[in-house]
Amino acid sequence: MPTQTLPLQIDFPIDLNKIGVAPAYRTQLGAAYLGDSLALLKKLPDESINLVLTSPPFALQREKEYGNQNQANYVQWLSEFATVVYQKLKPDGSFVLDLGGAYEKGKPVRSLYNFRIPIHFCDEIGFFLAEDFYWFNPSKLPSPIEWVNKRKIRAKDSVNTVWWFSKSEFPKSDVTNVLTEYSDRMKKLLDDPEKFYDPKKRPSGHDISANFSKNNGGAIPSNLLQISNSESNSLYLRACKALDIKPHPARFPSKLPEFFIRFLTDPGDVVLDIFAGSNTTGSIADIEKRHWLAFESDRQYLAASSFRFLSDQDSSEDWMEIYQRILFNQPVMIESPNRQLQLFEKLRK
Ligand SMILES: C[S@@+](CC[C@H](N)C(=O)[O-])C[C@H]1O[C@@H](n2cnc3c(N)ncnc32)[C@H](O)[C@@H]1O
Repeated sequence: MPTQTLPLQIDFPIDLNKIGVAPAYRTQLGAAYLGDSLALLKKLPDESINLVLTSPPFALQREKEYGNQNQANYVQWLSEFATVVYQKLKPDGSFVLDLGGAYEKGKPVRSLYNFRIPIHFCDEIGFFLAEDFYWFNPSKLPSPIEWVNKRKIRAKDSVNTVWWFSKSEFPKSDVTNVLTEYSDRMKKLLDDPEKFYDPKKRPSGHDISANFSKNNGGAIPSNLLQISNSESNSLYLRACKALDIKPHPARFPSKLPEFFIRFLTDPGDVVLDIFAGSNTTGSIADIEKRHWLAFESDRQYLAASSFRFLSDQDSSEDWMEIYQRILFNQPVMIESPNRQLQLFEKLRK
C-alpha cells in the first residue's frame, strides 16, 4: 500500500507535503523519512529548523556496516550536507555535530579530520563555532586494539568532539534548562552560608561575594559531558531482542540529545536529525514536546527505530507488525504522547 501524500494533517510548523514522499512513520509531533538526507533536506523550506542534531557516519578506517566515508573525502562529503543545513536553519538555529576521532590507517597518529570540520564549516560555509563540547564516555571499549591493547603505546580514546555550530553569534540557548546537581560542598554552602563560607577575595582575584551562596536551582554544566553509553534495558533494545533484530551499532545515549534539545530549543520548536539511525534524537524530542524530523537511508534501522515510540503495553506482535509495515513501505502513525498505537488504515476510517 504505497502512499504519496501524508495521510493525516497534523499541526506541524512546516508543510510536510513539500517533502513529496510520505514518512515511514510519524507521531503527533514528528515524522521519520527513509532516504538520502541530502535530497530530503533540500525539500525543506529555508529557515525552518531550530536545531539539527546529529552524528554522521564517522571517517573510520575500519568499515562499519553502515558505510563510512574515507578520511580524505570526509570533509568535502560532510560539507555538502552542512551547506544545506545552514540554509534550512532559522537565523537563531544551531547545528550540533557529534564526531568521534580516528587514527590514520596503520599508524599510531591521529587523523585531523574532526578538527578540519569546524575550520571548514566556519571559514567556508559561514557557521560560527558557538562552543566545543566533549562527550566523555567512560564505558567506551579500548581501541584501536593494536596501539592500546597489544602494543600499549596509546591511551584509550573515550572522548568524542561535539561541535555546536550556530548561524548567528547569538543562537537561541538557555543554560538554565540544563543545570546539573550541585556538588555536596555547594549543597552544604547553600544550607548554611554563614558557617561554611567567609566571603573574601580569592588569590585568583575573583571576588566571591555572599551572592555565591544563592540557590539557582543547580550548577552551570561544563562543556565536558560525562555520559555512559551503557543503556541495556530500553524498550528499543528489548523489542530488538524479542524480534531477533540487530540493534543499531552506534546509538546516542539518550542524555546526549536530551542535553542539547533542552539547552537550545523550546517546546514546539523543530529538531532534525539528518543521520537518524535508531532515531534517539526524535524520540527524546518527542518526550520533550518538540516537533522532530528524522532522515535515515537504511530501511531496517528506520523500521526498528519505531520501537522507541511504542509501549510495553503493545504486544510483540504489534511491534513486529509496525516493523514489517515500515519495511514494506506502508506508512504508520504512532499516537503520542500517550504512546497508544494506531495503524495507518485505522486512522483513515
Ligand atoms: C552514527 S549513525 C547515527 C546513530 C544515531 N545517532 C542513533 O542514536 O541511533 C549514522 C547513520 O547515518 C545513516 N546515513 C549514512 N548516510 C546517510 C545519508 N546520506 N542519508 C541518510 N542517512 C544516512 C547511516 O545508515 C547510519 O544509521
